[in-house]
Amino acid sequence: MMHRATSFLPSFGPARLLTLLCLLLGLTARAEEVKSPNGQLTLNFDLQGGVPTYRLRYKGREVIKTSKLGLELKKTTSLQSGFAQTDKQTRSFDETWTPVWGESKTIRNHYNELAVTLTQAETQRTMRIRFRVFDDGLGFRYEFPRQPKLDYFTIKEERTEFALAGDHKAFWLPGDYDTQEYSTVTSKLSEVRGLMKSAVTGNASQTTFSPTGLQTPLMLKSADGLYINIHEAALIDYSCMHLELDDKTMVLTSHLTPDAVGDKGLIQTPANSPWRTVIVSDKAGDILLSKLVLNLNEPTKFKDVSWIKPVKYVGVWWEMITGKSTWSYTNMDNIKLDSVDYRKVKPNGTHGANNAHVKEYIDFAAQHGFDAVLVEGWNTGWEDWFGKHKDYVFDFVTPYPDFDVQELNRYAQSKNVRIIMHHETSGSVRNYERHLDSAFQFMNKYGYNAVKTGYVGDIVPLGHHHYDQWLINHYNFVLEKAAQHHIMVNGHEAVRPTGLARTYPNLIGNEAARGTEYESFGGNNADHTTILPFTRLIGGPMDYTPGIFQTKVSAYNPQNTSFVHSTLARQLALYVTMYSPLQMAADLPETYNQHLDAFQFIKDVAVDWDDTKVLEAEPGDYITYARKAKGKSSWFIGSTCDEQGRTSAIDLSFLEPGKKYVATIYADAPDAHYEKNPQAYQIRKQTVTRKTKLTQRCAPGGGYAISLVEAGR
Ligand code: NOJ
Ligand code: CA
Repeated sequence: MMHRATSFLPSFGPARLLTLLCLLLGLTARAEEVKSPNGQLTLNFDLQGGVPTYRLRYKGREVIKTSKLGLELKKTTSLQSGFAQTDKQTRSFDETWTPVWGESKTIRNHYNELAVTLTQAETQRTMRIRFRVFDDGLGFRYEFPRQPKLDYFTIKEERTEFALAGDHKAFWLPGDYDTQEYSTVTSKLSEVRGLMKSAVTGNASQTTFSPTGLQTPLMLKSADGLYINIHEAALIDYSCMHLELDDKTMVLTSHLTPDAVGDKGLIQTPANSPWRTVIVSDKAGDILLSKLVLNLNEPTKFKDVSWIKPVKYVGVWWEMITGKSTWSYTNMDNIKLDSVDYRKVKPNGTHGANNAHVKEYIDFAAQHGFDAVLVEGWNTGWEDWFGKHKDYVFDFVTPYPDFDVQELNRYAQSKNVRIIMHHETSGSVRNYERHLDSAFQFMNKYGYNAVKTGYVGDIVPLGHHHYDQWLINHYNFVLEKAAQHHIMVNGHEAVRPTGLARTYPNLIGNEAARGTEYESFGGNNADHTTILPFTRLIGGPMDYTPGIFQTKVSAYNPQNTSFVHSTLARQLALYVTMYSPLQMAADLPETYNQHLDAFQFIKDVAVDWDDTKVLEAEPGDYITYARKAKGKSSWFIGSTCDEQGRTSAIDLSFLEPGKKYVATIYADAPDAHYEKNPQAYQIRKQTVTRKTKLTQRCAPGGGYAISLVEAGR
């Protein structure tokens, strides 16, 4: 759609006269209305005294009350008021696209759009606000066309409001510029302030920026049963948004992540902000099925995507997280790495990534049909990865002396297995960018096709934050570079995803939340995985790393008293409930070998899907999904509940008519309990059809997993 920048013509011609007329008319309020394709959502845009506002209703109920839009700029007139509407465009859009990988074979992108062009009389600047109203919610963004009076500018703060209609129940994380690894707190919005201190303490190491600062995706439930999710889509060349809550008025306002000098964004026109998203429904399951965030991202420009494939993997990983083995090869501390000759230093005897041990994992992966083995701690520098020299600690191309990169890759590939590269940057993006080309060339040379990146610790250059504009650009730069080398990326500690995998399908995973690793650092709440699909996963898949069967961490490291807050059966369910095209079986081969019957589910479960159904869901309480394996007739069901336990009535009517399926049900034993008896499970088989009704219990902190394979296959 083209927009005419008629107001910038230098001469005082007819176009300028027209603009002046529009500006005069615009001083009186002009309301616009757009409805979703099914008519259930209504978006209003209104200039109130020159201030842009919007409002969103769902089936006549207020979702977002009249809320202001705009940006505060540094050292110049802000883009918040004094506007007149000088143009308006509307259109309807309906396409169905095929993701490279995903929860369904195709995705429908169907919306009605309104784009209003606003001109500020005082400055002769123009800003456009584009709204897209889908059946499942709203997306809107600011657009800054190229124009003489708005070339470069610095954002002091974005002032987008989300005026909520009540004191909703919220599933929230403290706002933070450097970590997303808090436990989720469930409370009323009015209780956020009182709970903020305890929400921060004892969780992650950082502190929040304000007593009411929150992260997105923020999941809300109104007293009258509306489910509302607020997030952002297509976070590109802009800083990540948090939300500040005014707990008197229940108005949320955007709060961008500042850079090292406190600025919140350097913009050169033409530019667009990310989309601000509000997903809404009166059914919780609709939030889980929403593709709004993906749809608001641009289609991929990759011509060849044949190198991008979902991955099921094991890894030399949980043993380091639990403290059974180490990333580092020696016990040296605080060293200047370039002066160390590792071949002359005494090894510590606990280094996990050694040749013999990595081969054991490769053998295990090959035996059980896994695609890959992640190997962490393969490269020099781990002795000082948190230390003073971290800007120089890793070069990403130098293996420790006991890791033969050539031989191990040869060995793996001879068994049809790949090794997954690990690039822990320890937050030094300067160092990573310095080495990126050679690091990716090294990967190509030895046949690696996927990398797990990590950004633990303070960012170098110092003062920058994990979610500021500079870091957002870094993560996207890595994705683009990786694509040039046909490398898939799984970013840990990088910014929470915003659906960018539509544009960059090589982004096959992110951590960006509290993952299974925390089960070894004190634990996750028993309801954690009944919330994450409603929050963190709204932006994209998570490398949650499930599959821990040995729930007592002390079995691997007697010093570590942590335990996994889940039953073993629930660990299986997570392969279905925590959608990801990248799934790890995170426990150790020695443990899986003791439970090969339960391990069978991990071997069988698909990682790419033709179809997804939510059978039942309530954030914080329970989630049950059914998914159909890509290109196959089998279905998989996963269910997880909170610490209360629960019984589901499973309706199998989604199965194909006339077909019989063998259901293998992996469930909690009657006496299972996530704290008292987590490893008690039972496996049973029965023949089912679409008419069968199953009743299945989840133990407290438990779950169940079911594979449904067409009989005779
Ligand atoms: C944190 C990551 O989440 C974890 O998976 C990784 O093993 C460590 N950093 C070390 O890089
Ligand atoms: Ca982490």
